[in-house]
Amino acid sequence: MEHRSVQQETDVKVLVLGGDGFCGWPCAVNLAEAGHDVVIVDNLSRRKIDIELGVESLTPISTIGDRLRAWEECGGRAMHFVDLDIAAEYDLLLDLLRTEQPGAVVHFAEQRAAPYSMKSSRHKRYTVDNNVNGTHNLLCAIVESGLDIHIVHLGTMGVYGYGSHRGATIPEGYLTVEVPQPDGTRFRENILHPTDPGSVYHMTKTLDQLLFYYYNKNDGIRITDLHQGIVWGTNTALTDRDPRLCNRFDYDGDYGTVLNRFLMQAAIGYPLTVHGTGGQTRAFIHIRDSVRCVELAIANPPGAGDKVRIFNQMTESHRVHDLADKVAAITGATVALLPNPRKEAIENDLIVDNRCLLDLGLQPTTLSDGLLTEVVDVARRWADRCDRRRIPCISAWTATQARALAAG
Ligand SMILES: NC(=O)c1ccc[n+]([C@@H]2O[C@H](COP(=O)([O-])OP(=O)(O)OC[C@H]3O[C@@H](n4cnc5c(N)ncnc54)[C@H](O)[C@@H]3O)[C@@H](O)[C@H]2O)c1
Repeated sequence: MEHRSVQQETDVKVLVLGGDGFCGWPCAVNLAEAGHDVVIVDNLSRRKIDIELGVESLTPISTIGDRLRAWEECGGRAMHFVDLDIAAEYDLLLDLLRTEQPGAVVHFAEQRAAPYSMKSSRHKRYTVDNNVNGTHNLLCAIVESGLDIHIVHLGTMGVYGYGSHRGATIPEGYLTVEVPQPDGTRFRENILHPTDPGSVYHMTKTLDQLLFYYYNKNDGIRITDLHQGIVWGTNTALTDRDPRLCNRFDYDGDYGTVLNRFLMQAAIGYPLTVHGTGGQTRAFIHIRDSVRCVELAIANPPGAGDKVRIFNQMTESHRVHDLADKVAAITGATVALLPNPRKEAIENDLIVDNRCLLDLGLQPTTLSDGLLTEVVDVARRWADRCDRRRIPCISAWTATQARALAAG
């Protein structure tokens, strides 16, 4: 796909929605370091969910106030923080846009755990209310403000679904189809790739896609939607500058993601938790690359009149069982095959086109023994903070999966 870089933008003011989170915090400091004026907007809901679940990040994380102070003490460009719920406080969000007049808004502010979104009706409804309203409020507020703001949204590779793609390469957001006509001729059309969400969380991301499509078509809002793979790793060079800048490391059954969980389980001598056969294939990206991709997306915004730009923000695909075997080989861990709490294909293929970000200059950090060991070392350092009771995945997609979990 041909990619057009309209203009390099390296010093725009950026609002980072969800900038206290796992991807948002290292992204915010990276943008500040790159010369942007950064405002972090977060309602700290993720920290409150930790309290609800009775779990804490494996790494100790400072309050947002301490993070910002530490960042300045380390010589970082000052950022400020606004405590605001983008899904519920529309007027404040609009005021903020009018006051700050950002050139770009990076939107991380969603409930992002599929298992959390499937725990109960309350969790499903919260995830839909929070994610869909938050995205819609942002779009609506940009239109009402009359400002020309580039949205960079963190979506997920999960919008394409993890069923069989019959060996086809997943394109970057759009699919060219041929539509048969009654007279036997065909016309070609470039459509949004069909979505196939596998959880309520993933469903909200597919709804985000439609909201973007509509507001881009109707109001000309410039949008980059980053379909991100599963992020692994924990710190970047900047969050490593001071212990108070340390990023969060989720390991529990709801928020912990597969590779980081394996690495942490290996660190504490817990059998690696493979659900089902481990034949599921997923896309991955290291946190350092995630941060870099957002920087590249801001620096190369779409032009006026461009349709929503979609990048597949991943660097490699792996089968879950292969990952477990790799971690086991490096660390000597054992692998446990457990019932799958998710309703999903037993196995799937996942071949992904990710040329857009590579063309913009991303140099992928791929899985290497050294990097895996680095994460194991972080996990070993904080092993005494781990609550083993929080490791199992207990959120079941349906009653059938719940029964299988209960039967062990
Ligand atoms: N972590 C991954 O592996 C991964 C993979 C693919 C996509 N993503 C996407 O990246 C984004 C960030 O993920 P993350 O891992 O940093 O999640 P996270 O939960 O650590 O961070 C999300 C942040 O948004 C804030 N937030 C949530 N709702 C808000 C609201 N209504 N108003 C203001 N702030 C709100 C939370 O307090 C939190 O700090 C999410 O949209 C997620 O879907 C993450």
